Amino acid sequence: MTTILLFGADGQLGWELQRALAPLGSVQALSRSDVDIAEPEALRAAIRAAMPRAIVNAAAYTAVDKAEADAAAAQTVNALAPGVMAEEAKAQGAWLVHYSTDYVFDGTKLGPYAETDQTRPLSVYGRSKREGELAIAAAGASHLIFRTSWVFGPHGGNFLKTILRLAREREELAVIDDKIGAPTSSELLADVTAHALAAAFGTRIDGGLYHLCAAGETSWHGYASFVVDVARKLGAELKLAPERINPIPTEQYPLPAPRPRNSRLDCGRIRRALDLDLPDWRWHVRRSLAELIRP
Ligand SMILES: NC(=O)c1ccc[n+]([C@@H]2O[C@H](COP(=O)([O-])OP(=O)(O)OC[C@H]3O[C@@H](n4cnc5c(N)ncnc54)[C@H](OP(=O)(O)O)[C@@H]3O)[C@@H](O)[C@H]2O)c1
Repeated sequence: MTTILLFGADGQLGWELQRALAPLGSVQALSRSDVDIAEPEALRAAIRAAMPRAIVNAAAYTAVDKAEADAAAAQTVNALAPGVMAEEAKAQGAWLVHYSTDYVFDGTKLGPYAETDQTRPLSVYGRSKREGELAIAAAGASHLIFRTSWVFGPHGGNFLKTILRLAREREELAVIDDKIGAPTSSELLADVTAHALAAAFGTRIDGGLYHLCAAGETSWHGYASFVVDVARKLGAELKLAPERINPIPTEQYPLPAPRPRNSRLDCGRIRRALDLDLPDWRWHVRRSLAELIRP
């Protein structure tokens, strides 16, 4: 029986991976209460005990702003732990699937970023995620790293759910309109991961780094406006109308961690590798809202 060892099972993505990976084998889904991945010996022991055919790591230190004052913790979870997972995967001949972020880039490129583009993280979180990518590559295990952006889904905390909550509470909102990217659902990420892992087990995909996000692009303001518009059409009782969401520049909404202005990722490599079409970001936003709003 194929065992797939999943870390971060209670996160946005981990939750969906539990569903999407189930047809590939027996999924051993671990959350922080099972194993703290910041403890290398406990992490190694868990992997050795499971003897998995694949390790899928959806666990991460994702509090981007908090990380600015908590660099050691972010580094341990986002860089050291993936390196340990990769060493154990190498020793056991297992695949390692891991996730990274658009925040490894500085956002100054005009077009979408390719896997070969120079990284230059602006934040502690971005640096720690980049170091995780490098640690995995250095360990020499068979691996797939998916860099994604602006993750949302019905399970866990995210921008979509925050906007929906604020739209119920407020009549007016200001949202930045000078940063662009592709909102990507945890469902899409999990489903493509399952396709990729099936291909990996059948040696039909090259290991390495892949960009993976929904098609299309928007600003945070465009995203918020779409969420409120669709939520209203689905019958949600909201105080906020889409036209009362005011566009503002980043400077008017300062945060501890700088973010890239351009978060667009070129996903041609994964589309070609798996012969897949990636749906427009609006498609999964509508689905998530329907799940959240309709009884
Ligand atoms: N969210 C985004 O917008 C975004 C964008 C680009 C890339 N990504 C990447 O996508 C992946 C999945 O992100 P996500 O949005 O699903 O994150 P998430 O919802 O924050 O889930 C992360 C999970 O990791 C767990 N975790 C953190 N530290 C741990 C530790 N020391 N030991 C064990 N578990 C630990 C968390 O548990 P607790 O709840 O107990 O802390 C949480 O369940 C990550 O690699 C992230 O960097 C996310």
